[in-house]
Amino acid sequence: MYPVWEGYLIHSAIVVAIIAVAHVLFSHVTVAATWFNWWVERKALLENKPYLQDYLKASALRLLMLAYTLGAMFGVGIWFSVTASNPRGISTLIHNFVFYWASEWFWFIIDVFGIAVYYYTFGRVNPKTHARIGLILALAASGTLAIIVGILGFKLTPGAWLQTGLSLDGFYNPSFWPMLFARFALMFALTALYALLVAGSLPKDHPARQEVIPLAGKVGLVGLLLGSALVVFWYVPSLHEHAKTLLRIPQAIQPVFYIKMAVGVIASSLVLITAILSPKRVSAPLGYLALALAFLGLFGAERTREVLRKPDVIYGYMGSNQIIYAERAPRGIKAEAPRLNEEGVLQRLPFAVAPGAKGAGPTSGQDPVEAGRVLVTLECSSCHTVSKNTAFLGGLRPLPALLKRRGMTDAPAIRAYLEAIGGFPYMHPPVGTSEEKEYMAMYLEKLVKEFFPELRAEGGAK
Ligand code: HEC
Repeated sequence: MYPVWEGYLIHSAIVVAIIAVAHVLFSHVTVAATWFNWWVERKALLENKPYLQDYLKASALRLLMLAYTLGAMFGVGIWFSVTASNPRGISTLIHNFVFYWASEWFWFIIDVFGIAVYYYTFGRVNPKTHARIGLILALAASGTLAIIVGILGFKLTPGAWLQTGLSLDGFYNPSFWPMLFARFALMFALTALYALLVAGSLPKDHPARQEVIPLAGKVGLVGLLLGSALVVFWYVPSLHEHAKTLLRIPQAIQPVFYIKMAVGVIASSLVLITAILSPKRVSAPLGYLALALAFLGLFGAERTREVLRKPDVIYGYMGSNQIIYAERAPRGIKAEAPRLNEEGVLQRLPFAVAPGAKGAGPTSGQDPVEAGRVLVTLECSSCHTVSKNTAFLGGLRPLPALLKRRGMTDAPAIRAYLEAIGGFPYMHPPVGTSEEKEYMAMYLEKLVKEFFPELRAEGGAK
């Protein structure tokens, strides 16, 4: 077991989510933009419209300076944040997919150098060669997408991997193809908004502006409709029953998630339709605004996808709290939960000092409430705010408020509840010996009273 990173002010899960969604936004814009620009470049060549080059240069410069730079930095940020927030989860992924990531980085190198080559060879090489550089860039960018989709899909739908433990089974998992095509289509909606922003910043009477804006509107609208249809009719049906159940439980997927998605889709469609029907109204600020709303929609969609595998980080195998619950894990890995219930959790935490731990030294004579804090942090903090550290703006599903709402404000009531967690599709039962659950209840009582001091005055009852 590793030390736990709760987050600071905001919960670590939200830190990961913000970084990851920013990465998704930039990476999706860049991947589809390479295709869109390749197409525009061919159009410029075939229809002899050299003025389109002005659009392409403006687009490539922003991609190079902003989207690729920020996208890549947020990508590195994902590694930092997930390694801190869920080291065992990421370790499982690395153990299964290290060579896939290696090949992704092969695509990346082409991609990241390619955009620089693409931009700086405008007008310096034969136009046909330049269009070919654009095509290589588009293919490499799509390669990175295909690989990460396999790994991403694995966490929610590991499929046959759960029995065989073979990494290819995990990679070509049940949601791989649907997610690949759905993302590929939806990317064009984001790229179209980006294209509006770029074309909207060209001079008003520039012929490229008048030509690219309606084109982007059409491409984006087709991408959005097709992508949404793929999500609804192919991706969602490819999920297991558990995920479909969670989709319907408002405690798991709160209505606000759907509202964000709807706002993103509706706002994007309106802007894209405006681009087709009345291109003159499209300006750079509208492009920025549309991208910001699309970010909101993406946030809702990606968070929903992540919550669908609750209570696990790798569905059917490892809980979000990094404990292995699978009864029959592949490759001879044993479930940890039964052993932890029997032998206790605290003894197995090399970094914690707690009562009951074997051996001498700092482990003896510790405060049981402090032991409870360690256990609650380990077992519950991946999904809940469990201390004031992450309580900024209310925190993430804050346990004190949830316990108070259910009228469980003293240790015996909380203790009884801990024993009863088990029937929830989104939570595993807590693990540990019965003393350990006692410690957890003691800490949780203290926590509730810390958040709601008025309960202390009533002596803690009710
Ligand atoms: C895998 C994520 C996850 C973990 C780990 C987790 N919970 Fe939850 N928990 C949830 C979700 C999701 C909800 C529903 C939130 C809501 O009702 O708003 C929830 C709700 C609750 C509630 C509220 C009432 C209810 O019955 O729905 C309590 C109390 C609670 N959790 C306690 C705990 C405790 C104690 C732990 C640690 C032993 C824990 N949870 C660990 C995901 C988790």
